[in-house]
Amino acid sequence: MEEFASRPMGAQDIPGASAIEASVPDGWSERGVADALSSPAGRCFIAHDARGAAGFCACTLAGGEANIDAVSVRADARRKGVGEGLLRTALRALKEEGASEVFLEVRSENTPAIRLYEKLGFSPVGVRRGFYKDPPDDAVVMKKEL
Ligand SMILES: CC(C)(COP(=O)(O)OP(=O)(O)OC[C@H]1O[C@@H](n2cnc3c(N)ncnc32)[C@H](O)[C@@H]1OP(=O)(O)O)[C@@H](O)C(=O)NCCC(=O)NCCS
Repeated sequence: MEEFASRPMGAQDIPGASAIEASVPDGWSERGVADALSSPAGRCFIAHDARGAAGFCACTLAGGEANIDAVSVRADARRKGVGEGLLRTALRALKEEGASEVFLEVRSENTPAIRLYEKLGFSPVGVRRGFYKDPPDDAVVMKKEL
C-alpha cells in the first residue's frame, strides 16, 4: 500500500490544496482555500504522497459543532485511502478541540463521497432541495456524533 500522511495545513500548503480543489466539481479558488485557513473557525488538513499534495479537507468549528466544508483528493491518488485517512485525521482533531457533532452537505448524486462518509459513521439527517447549481442537484445533509 502506498504511503501518505495527513496533518493540519499551513500557509505553505495553499498552492497544493488549491491545485486539487481546481480539479474537482464545485472546487474552491486559491482565495477560498486561503480564507478558510485564515478564518478563526477554520480547521484545514492536507494529505501528501510521494508526488506531493494528494488531499485537502476544510472544516469549521464553532462551539461544539463542526462542519466539513470541502474534501478533495487528487484524481490519480483516489481509491487508496487518502480521503478516509484525511477525514479520520480531521475528525480526531475536531474531537480533541471539543466538537461533539459534525455536519456536512454532499450532492445526492456523489456516490463516492456518500460511501466515504457512511464508512466513517455519518448518517443522512435531511435534504436541501435544489441546493446545488451547475448541474442542479439536492444536498444530502449528513451528521456524525463524535
Ligand atoms: C470523494 C473522494 C474525496 C474520496 O477520496 P478517496 O481518497 O478516493 O477515498 P478512499 O480511497 O479513502 O475511500 C474510502 C472509502 O470511500 C468509499 N469510496 C471512495 N471512492 C469510491 C467510489 N468511487 N465508489 C464507491 N465508494 C467509494 C469507499 O467506501 C471507500 O472504502 P473502501 O476502499 O474500503 O471501499 C474523492 O473521490 C474526490 O476527491 N472526489 C471529488 C471531490 C468530491 O466529490 N468531494 C466531496 C465533496 S462533498
